[in-house]
Amino acid sequence: MSEVTVRETLAGAVSEIAAAGCATPRLDAEVLLAHALGVSRERLLCEGSAVVGAEALPAFRRAVRRRAGEREAVAYITGRRAFRRLELAVDSRALIPRPETELLVEAALALPTRAHVLDVGTGSGAVALALKQERPDLHVTASDVSQRALSLARENAARLDLDVRFVCADLLDGLDDPYDAVLANLPYVADGERAGLAPEIVRHEPVGALFAGADGLAEIGRLLAQLKRRTSVELVALEVGAGQAHAVATRTRAAGFATVRCERDLAGIERVVIGLERRR
Ligand SMILES: C[S@@+](CC[C@H](N)C(=O)[O-])C[C@H]1O[C@@H](n2cnc3c(N)ncnc32)[C@H](O)[C@@H]1O
Repeated sequence: MSEVTVRETLAGAVSEIAAAGCATPRLDAEVLLAHALGVSRERLLCEGSAVVGAEALPAFRRAVRRRAGEREAVAYITGRRAFRRLELAVDSRALIPRPETELLVEAALALPTRAHVLDVGTGSGAVALALKQERPDLHVTASDVSQRALSLARENAARLDLDVRFVCADLLDGLDDPYDAVLANLPYVADGERAGLAPEIVRHEPVGALFAGADGLAEIGRLLAQLKRRTSVELVALEVGAGQAHAVATRTRAAGFATVRCERDLAGIERVVIGLERRR
């Protein structure tokens, strides 16, 4: 077998990934080759003329096939995703954490010392674990209705040595502790939007993490209805889809939060609705 350089290997993979219609073929190829070689992407880019060892090529070719052929996201292929200061393990048991979800962590950073926080629909554990890492004094509970997601979240907590309590529950059912704050990135895609989703999402991410009824607000709406009776909760932060912030803000006020504001993500979309100052 003839020897191939990093540059040649990347060029072939970039063409294959681009031909499949992926948005960032060069970045994807670089991350996948760096992963197959066990080096950082920065180091890979400094070594374009180096020969790719024969032992790394089969794994890299399998990775490119998954990316281009199956349209799996790079994070599922490498099994890793950065979220705030953490590197989380990710796989098909849970949604890949998105950068905009970091706003939920930011919303909780100024909570009083030793406050009790609940992350509803924790998935990989991203929000709960990042918050615990940045505010170790907080008592953090993470819940999910999916046992599969919870098993991944527990593995992440153990590997990162972060003390978060995990509970399997449908929203707040059975979670009777008087929480001070509730954070949630629940499913918010309308059922009818399935056809418009990227193959990376619709083919590979858990269906229970995505869809929430005709308007996408079924789960968020149920949570806010439950929160109306949970008067210990002084702060709620809810991630929403594009165009949903106004409707969710109205329901947040109706749930008894006197002050409601929205935080925009880096794309300028109103992404997180925050309710404060509880009316009793
Ligand atoms: C959009 S994913 C978010 C995962 C994670 N919080 C993140 O941001 O990466 C939504 C999560 O909510 C969970 N979920 C859906 N319906 C739920 C419910 N009724 N009660 C609790 N969790 C639910 C799903 O299993 C999934 O893990």
